[in-house]
Order: sequence, then structure tokens, then C-alpha cells
Amino acid sequence: MKMPIIAPSILSADFLEIGAAVESIESSGAEWLHLDVMDGHFVPPITFGNKMVSDIRKRTGLFLDTHLMIEEPERHIHAFLDAGSDAITFHAEACIHSHRLLQTIRHSGKKAGISIVPSTPVSQILPLLQAVDQVLVMTVNPGYGGQKLLPFCLSKVDELRDIRKKEGLDFLIAVDGGTNLSTISQVAIHEPDILVIGSAFFAAQDKQAFACSIRSAWNE
Ligand code: DX5
Ligand code: ZN
Repeated sequence: MKMPIIAPSILSADFLEIGAAVESIESSGAEWLHLDVMDGHFVPPITFGNKMVSDIRKRTGLFLDTHLMIEEPERHIHAFLDAGSDAITFHAEACIHSHRLLQTIRHSGKKAGISIVPSTPVSQILPLLQAVDQVLVMTVNPGYGGQKLLPFCLSKVDELRDIRKKEGLDFLIAVDGGTNLSTISQVAIHEPDILVIGSAFFAAQDKQAFACSIRSAWNE
């Protein structure tokens, strides 16, 4: 079974110690770094903007996976592309011309992702699946780290994998929210390609051991 990509979210890091947080992700063996951008409109909290992405870009070669939880993502897309994101994912619920925006991201040479909140069905993004490099399935209602996994969202991973196979597509499937050592076996059954993990990663004393424990759920 193909091992998942682990994408720790710096949302759960101490923002006064971001450099150390980035180094801890690098030394853990996780492959990606997930950046949760929130605007206070699409979701209640405000986190950080493109400058955080560009400052982190200068510090690391990790794959930077930017998750825009913002209204009208098309207004800010060039700022986040210029900041050095490797992938940009925005919400289907936040954008009317999603297909156009996915093309803009891809034309700039970056990976393009679409995300759906728990109440949005996969059927809503069917026409976009040809144009995406990844689908980010929210397994909590977006906005906060440390929330409880919503298991009913996991069937979307199976649904997307079936469509991918049937249509001969090659997008990656990510899950975001509520994954920790207590829920990993429940998540692993659905075999997502990417695991976004925030609070559980940063709460772990030994982050390398944590990443190994997460991966070992794939062998069970
Ligand atoms: C939530 C964010 C997540 C968050 C996950 O809106 O999109 O990326 O950091 O945090 P945990 O793993 O704590 O649920
Ligand atoms: Zn996220």
C-alpha cells in the first residue's frame, strides 16, 4: 500500500517560533508543510497571509501546500503564487469561477487543489476533477485546529477514488482535520494520499516517532 504524504499544518505551531516549527517538520520526515490561510469571512478566524508563505519559502525546501479558506480567492491568487506556494487549494464554496481559477494556478506551473467543506457533496465538484491536482476533503468544519473528526466525511475519499479510477484521472486525495493517533486507523481504511495534521503533530514530543506511528497505520 502506498504510504500517505504527511502535511503538518503550522496553524497549530507557536507563531512566535515559526522557524523552529518549520525545522521540526523537516526533521520529522514529513514531506509537505500545510499553510492554513483564513480571512475572517469564509471562516471566522484570521490567520496569516502571503508574507508568511514567502518567509517560510526562504527557509525550507519542503513542498508548501497552501489552503486558502478565504472568500473570492481569485483576488489573492497571484500573491500566493508569487509567495512560492507549490500547491494552492481553494474552496469550491468560495468561488464562482472555480474552473478558471484552477487553470490560472496550473498555468503558473503550480499544483491546483479544490476543497469541500463537510456539507458539500463530491457531486458538486465533478466537473472540476479533470482540472485538479488534488482534492482536499475537509473532515472538520474549517476554521480551527483541534476539532473532532467528522467520520461521515470519509466516504467522500472512497467516492473520489472510485471516480479517479473510472475516469482514468490522477489527482491526489487529501483529508484535513481531526486526524490523530486515536483516529488514524479509522482514516487509514479510506487510504487518502495526503494527511493534513495540525494539533496532534505539534502536541507530539517526538515528531519523528509520531510520523512513524501515523505511517504504521497503513500497514495494519
Ligand atoms: C482547519 C484547517 C486544518 C487544521 C487541522 O480549518 O484547515 O488544516 O490545521 O488541524 P487538526 O489536525 O488539529 O484538526
Ligand atoms: Zn487546512
